[in-house]
Amino acid sequence: MAIIGCGSATPSAILSNHHLSQVVDTSDEWIYPRTGMKNRHVSSTNETLSQLAADAAQKAIADANLDPTNIDLIILATSTPDDLFGSASKVQHLIGATQAAAFDLTVACSGFVFGLITAAQYIRTGVYKNVVVIGADLLSRWVDWTDRTTCVLFGDGAGAVVCQGTETKDNLLAFEMRNDGSQHGCLNLGYQGESKPLAEGITVQVGGYKPLTMSGKEVYRFAVAKVPEAIEKAMFRAGLAIDDLDWLLLHQANQRIMDAVAKRLKLPSEKILSRISEYGNTSAASIPLTLDTEIRAGKVKPGDKIAVSGFGAGLAWSSAIFVWG
Ligand code: UT7
Repeated sequence: MAIIGCGSATPSAILSNHHLSQVVDTSDEWIYPRTGMKNRHVSSTNETLSQLAADAAQKAIADANLDPTNIDLIILATSTPDDLFGSASKVQHLIGATQAAAFDLTVACSGFVFGLITAAQYIRTGVYKNVVVIGADLLSRWVDWTDRTTCVLFGDGAGAVVCQGTETKDNLLAFEMRNDGSQHGCLNLGYQGESKPLAEGITVQVGGYKPLTMSGKEVYRFAVAKVPEAIEKAMFRAGLAIDDLDWLLLHQANQRIMDAVAKRLKLPSEKILSRISEYGNTSAASIPLTLDTEIRAGKVKPGDKIAVSGFGAGLAWSSAIFVWG
């Protein structure tokens, strides 16, 4: 398979560190050196996850010189659907991909890489030819805007790629997917219900989801330990040395994590792709959104070899080595 198109979309409103200092007890002096973040985009009341994901997908399909009716499958990696029953069907309708099957995939910040690997399996078995993988999240809907330890970190966005089956090459060179559910409590957006007696001897739960919580230090330590390992495994399977890589594109959670991982891999910092200062942490969107921004900026070129890694809630982490274009 080849990865032949890329697109992205962000809401228009930009929330700066300065804005945040008016919301909670924080400052640019705290946020920027600790995370690398300056701005993030946040959706307003009339902007939906489905529309943002559809905008990114439409751009990726146009970039691949395809028509939406050529798409066989849409995988929407998100933890923040408009509808708990899933938003992929809505995206299929919005973009007019009338022939495509569509489903949501939830692995939080690892979702895009898990989705890319899933797409490759459908393509390699010959079942589908054109698959769109979207990473999209609107975490501004779900953070506690009074909790300075989390609300300053997240932003909204969507990014998408088109994967296509080809006879001649397979540009997803290798991958690794891992989970450690014993650390599930480190990062949550959990259900919280109250008991409601319904009938004699029957009590049900009725409720919603409580805002995002994170043990930042634990997740930081986990990422710096596990991400280099996952990339090294995939590099080994691909038969590549670190010097063969053109770019390292990690989930954009913290600039310090990206720098630490690059250092462990002995990769020069110029090879890190980072747009964290513009977008903050956009969860499942962060990798394709950064990829698209760097393609549009002319930095990533066809033929470039890229190592990507998603990591976060689950805890889950993943890596993939692919050739763009
Ligand atoms: O996308 C999923 C994956 N997520 C990640 O990978 C995130 C990983 N974790 C991190 O990136 C970092 O742990 C954070 C950026 C979240 C936090 O940085 P830290 O250096 O670990 O800070 P901390 O949580 O240890 O907090 C240090 C101090 C505390 O004050 P005290 O207890 O030392 O007095 C916090 O209360 O900084 C305080 N603090 C803040 N101060 C101003 C925490 N958040 C803020 C804030 N503004 N926004």
